[in-house]
Amino acid sequence: MAKERIDKIFSQLGLLSRSECKRAVKSGLISVNGNVCRAADEKADPDIDAICYRGEAVDTRSLVYYMLNKPSGCITANEDKNAKTVFDYIDDRRTDLSAVGRLDKDTTGILIITNDGDINHRLLSPKYHVPKCYEALVAGVPSDEDIALLERGLDIGDEKPTLPAKCRILEVNEENVRGENADAIEDHGPTALVELIITEGRFHQVKRMFEAIEKPVLRLHRSSFGPLELDTNLRPGEYRELSKAELDMLNEASGRD
Ligand code: URA
Repeated sequence: MAKERIDKIFSQLGLLSRSECKRAVKSGLISVNGNVCRAADEKADPDIDAICYRGEAVDTRSLVYYMLNKPSGCITANEDKNAKTVFDYIDDRRTDLSAVGRLDKDTTGILIITNDGDINHRLLSPKYHVPKCYEALVAGVPSDEDIALLERGLDIGDEKPTLPAKCRILEVNEENVRGENADAIEDHGPTALVELIITEGRFHQVKRMFEAIEKPVLRLHRSSFGPLELDTNLRPGEYRELSKAELDMLNEASGRD
């Protein structure tokens, strides 16, 4: 990366506004390669130079990639006045982070968060058909015909039917289950845990697909996104950086070398 003004580096990382940075420089709180910075318009290369604030190294990597195990109860948005957002779980304060696609407030599971706009766009583009695997607990047990419909593509009220998907029943439970959505449907009878792999990302797509076969979703979890499986060591609300191998796989899945 080319050299940038110190105040621009700090503001892009979301650490200090330009005026805060100016004050910090005046107070001698910022150093570059061990030398105290004298002016906010001094330049440094964030990829090469060691920048410190209050004696601590600043994480200046330009591109970051995280896997979050999204818990239920938070929304996929950059900010919200009332609800917790997925970014409340990420310590990285840079301001250019975005989630790759959305999960509903009550959906749990893998969510990729990055400031790499190009890969974000590619992973969501219909051109690359990136598969997303969901585990849906549904009221009722889908019949063979239902499964065939889900797999073939069905009308969910949009202009076009859904694209072909893959679907299989993982488990059938004879008893009522408890939970936020489950409690809303009293005596829903037997339930099925169904794996559904789709390559699109329409609004509430999985829930609408199961609505269309009259098996409402009681709980929804995303277990994989493209080539990445949710790291089962991550508890709900925990996240970690993607490994180099995982990033390579994402690049490949999104047509990037
Ligand atoms: N489909 C849904 O209905 N909800 C999600 O959160 C993700 C996919």
